[in-house]
Amino acid sequence: MSAVLSQSGPQPLIAPSYVRHRRLLAWVAEVAALTQPERIVWVDGSQEEYDRLCEEMVRAGTFRRLNPARRPNSFLAWSDPTDVARVEDRTFICTDTREEAGPTNNWMDPAAMRARLDGLFAGCMRGRTMYVIPFSMGPLGSHIAQIGVELSDSPYVVVNMRLMTRMGRPVYEVLGENGEFVPCVHSVGTPLAAGEKDVPWPCNPTKYIVHYPKTREIWSFGSGYGGNALLGKKCLALRIASFMGRDQGWLAEHMLILGVTSPAGRKYHVAAAFPSACGKTNFAMLIPPAAMPGWTVTTIGEDIAWIKPGNDGRLYAINPEAGCFGVAPGTSEKTNANAMAMLRENVIFTNVALTDDGDVWWEGMGPAPAHLTDWQGRDWTPEDGKAGRKAAHPNARFTVAASQCPSIDPDWENPAGVPIDAFVFGGRRSTTVPLVTEARNWTEGVYMAATMGSETTAAQAGAQGVLRRDPFAMLPFCGYNMAEHFGHWLALGEKLAASGAALPRIFCVNWFRTDDHGRFVWPGFAENMRVLAWMVDRIEGRDGGATHALGVSPRHDDLNWSGIRFDAGEFERITSVDAAAWRKELESHGELFALLSHNLPPQLEATRRALADRLG
Ligand code: GTP
Ligand code: SPV
Ligand code: MN
Repeated sequence: MSAVLSQSGPQPLIAPSYVRHRRLLAWVAEVAALTQPERIVWVDGSQEEYDRLCEEMVRAGTFRRLNPARRPNSFLAWSDPTDVARVEDRTFICTDTREEAGPTNNWMDPAAMRARLDGLFAGCMRGRTMYVIPFSMGPLGSHIAQIGVELSDSPYVVVNMRLMTRMGRPVYEVLGENGEFVPCVHSVGTPLAAGEKDVPWPCNPTKYIVHYPKTREIWSFGSGYGGNALLGKKCLALRIASFMGRDQGWLAEHMLILGVTSPAGRKYHVAAAFPSACGKTNFAMLIPPAAMPGWTVTTIGEDIAWIKPGNDGRLYAINPEAGCFGVAPGTSEKTNANAMAMLRENVIFTNVALTDDGDVWWEGMGPAPAHLTDWQGRDWTPEDGKAGRKAAHPNARFTVAASQCPSIDPDWENPAGVPIDAFVFGGRRSTTVPLVTEARNWTEGVYMAATMGSETTAAQAGAQGVLRRDPFAMLPFCGYNMAEHFGHWLALGEKLAASGAALPRIFCVNWFRTDDHGRFVWPGFAENMRVLAWMVDRIEGRDGGATHALGVSPRHDDLNWSGIRFDAGEFERITSVDAAAWRKELESHGELFALLSHNLPPQLEATRRALADRLG
């Protein structure tokens, strides 16, 4: 349904009759008056609408339809080469005070930011359609869900939001006349003059990804890519939600959620935080090695978890998303067969390469074809690959409905969530951090999470492979002061312990230690099941493992090695704790704590000192 809004002055807004929310209608009119779109389309979330928008984007050159015989109902988009990942240095948390956002977030005074954005958004949708996109993070109508409405001038955003969230007309029934929603405004920031021809991927070199946590608003300008533009994901479900969780006693975390069932038939749930492009999707969809019969892993979520204490003192986690926006490079039948099966049809690919028969290819998928068209539309042969030119952008992604995942857990949409038995934190560390360590207690676990380090990836704009502290894998996603996030975790642990329930175990993992040639020593992927099985041992109270300065780790004999050769020497390479390297590591933790000194819980510095003493 669409309505034409005059550019000459405000007109009564023509909305579908099922939209009965006064404040929503007023806000849409207000944003339209500011941004001056040529027309407004109230999206209904139907398949016909999705198909029509995809067809329109094919005609506009934004989408290419893939060969229906090879990849039914699937499309490929190539972004502008300057708009390929989240822009962390352009992401702002506009709390009343700088301290509330904390030193790890970009901050600007809300009034000053509003003034700046008013200037940028004025007339920014001229010549374009403004889509009104109602969506629910979490199952529609469930008590844990949060509703958002995104106003966007990007049809690419509309179709992605349909896969990533519960989107469309039924949201208005839940909203009724007065329901709460998070207003999200998004523009690619490229108005069109009368008669001007559009480009396939409009965007603006000036970018702002702005959050006002107190009033729960999101404004995004200049980018059409991923977390910059699909505002339900990082902006709402992490930054705004983490702020809500702090006030309301729950957690919004950058975590996958999986179920693991042992050969004895006992099922446990694990939530794991790894930074962007560090293995959440892979771990969530793990297929146990054939030599470990009886183990199964099921997927509840692969990027975001909302975690709330239940009346029984346990923590329950839900996946607020309905789809995956996953990293394509590295995904193959060998590394993630579940993802490959999920990608057979109904997929939007962004920035992967195009094969001559109209299918997709990316680095790590398998042998490269003799000829491809790369993500920038140029000819590509394996010779170019040898010269270091990638056919797919390293942050190329797929968007697909979670329901297409073969390992999806029967409870993945259960509004009650699944009870969490263990938390796992893991970074990408070529040195220093052992394969797996269990924290001795909750405080040491929170310490491990708080001090996690990881080498940067292509998921964020900027240099890659640079070691940085990424507390809780939330560095780019925490909507308030990170030191207070640590305090929130410690307080939650105390509250749960007081109720008498067993706290979830906390583990720290690292799949990424390398040898002298820079090759990963640990085979990873399916083989991570061996580590997961050891975690289940620990959860069940078997005491395989040895205590060292940092916690408890398995000895070579404590892991199941059936079907694989991984000798004690190799094991030593990825589990050794080098005291000198760890003294340096603890110094770096100290630097983080100095940065976060405002409201830093004293237990963390005390833990750091105790670890230093243990190291000697
Ligand atoms: P975001 O969607 O950015 O939050 O990332 P993610 O954590 O879901 O990352 P994903 O699972 O998509 O992994 C990204 C990259 O890590 C891919 O290139 C994978 O091949 C690689 N990877 C995942 N698991 C492993 C592992 O066990 N070992 C090694 N060496 N690489 C892995
Ligand atoms: C991440 O970078 O952690 C992602 C991809 O999951 S995006 O949604 O683009 O942030
Ligand atoms: Mn992520």
